[in-house]
Amino acid sequence: MFADLLAGISQAPVVIPSRSPCILAFDSGLGGLTVFSELLTARPDADFIYVADDAGFPYGRLTESGLVARVLGVMRRLVEVHSPDLVVVACNTASTLVLPHLRSHFDLPFIGTVPAIKPAAAASRTRRISILATPGTVARDYTRGLIEAYAGGCRVELVGSHRLAAFAEAELRGAPVAEDQLAAEIAPCFVEDEDGRTDVVVLACTHYPLLLSRLRGLAPWPVTWIDPAPAIARRMTEVLQAPMQYDGLRQEGGRLAVFTGGEGLDDALRAALAARGLPKTVIDPFPLDATGH
Ligand code: DGL
Repeated sequence: MFADLLAGISQAPVVIPSRSPCILAFDSGLGGLTVFSELLTARPDADFIYVADDAGFPYGRLTESGLVARVLGVMRRLVEVHSPDLVVVACNTASTLVLPHLRSHFDLPFIGTVPAIKPAAAASRTRRISILATPGTVARDYTRGLIEAYAGGCRVELVGSHRLAAFAEAELRGAPVAEDQLAAEIAPCFVEDEDGRTDVVVLACTHYPLLLSRLRGLAPWPVTWIDPAPAIARRMTEVLQAPMQYDGLRQEGGRLAVFTGGEGLDDALRAALAARGLPKTVIDPFPLDATGH
């Protein structure tokens, strides 16, 4: 499966010559906004649909078969309605499991978000790195495959947090959780033994960079935090390979946020979305039990 996923990553570039590409960025909730910001900076000429499958949030608690069924079900509807040219799965929990299924079901390029273990191992001097992720991502064979392939010489802590994605959502909605709660979630990332201590932490859930400034402040010692979003945006521009048509204008018509639940979509959240380049929001209900889980 690991080989299949890697094989899928090196797909042929897509050339979209005559109009702006339509890019769909997908996550279980608001975490994919950290990737979306980089995508928007990389291709301000593109149309974007940001999808929060909030009716399924959090993905970290779903079974593997439940998650595959969920993402395929929602994606079928999204592709039918929006006809994107390219999909960025801005979610580690989904990408580390569902990418091969998506690629075999749809005739579309999919770019995934997977734990940045290779750059972390390359950046670490102490050879002690931590992967902070959802329990789902931590449990994946794919994640273990990345560690074996790229971090053989490192001591790797896999830290699965049950609460941090929800804490990140609360932060964006303007209701930040207390410091001690955040500190408890990241504490297992910081490991010290007689030969050294952790010097790199991978943010392997797209929600977590929403908390980055607070996490930096709470860390018991300084570390390098790795956010994969800029690398995903670079990959998107490579795959699209159309010339930049930047005119300095971000037209509202070309950006849409879609929620599959919409609970909690209040004025504060709408304002936060607008500030991040998504002034229009719609709810397209897709209850969790619609996929049988
Ligand atoms: N943002 C998602 C990720 O990157 C996960 C959050 C969730 O559990 O739904 O893994």
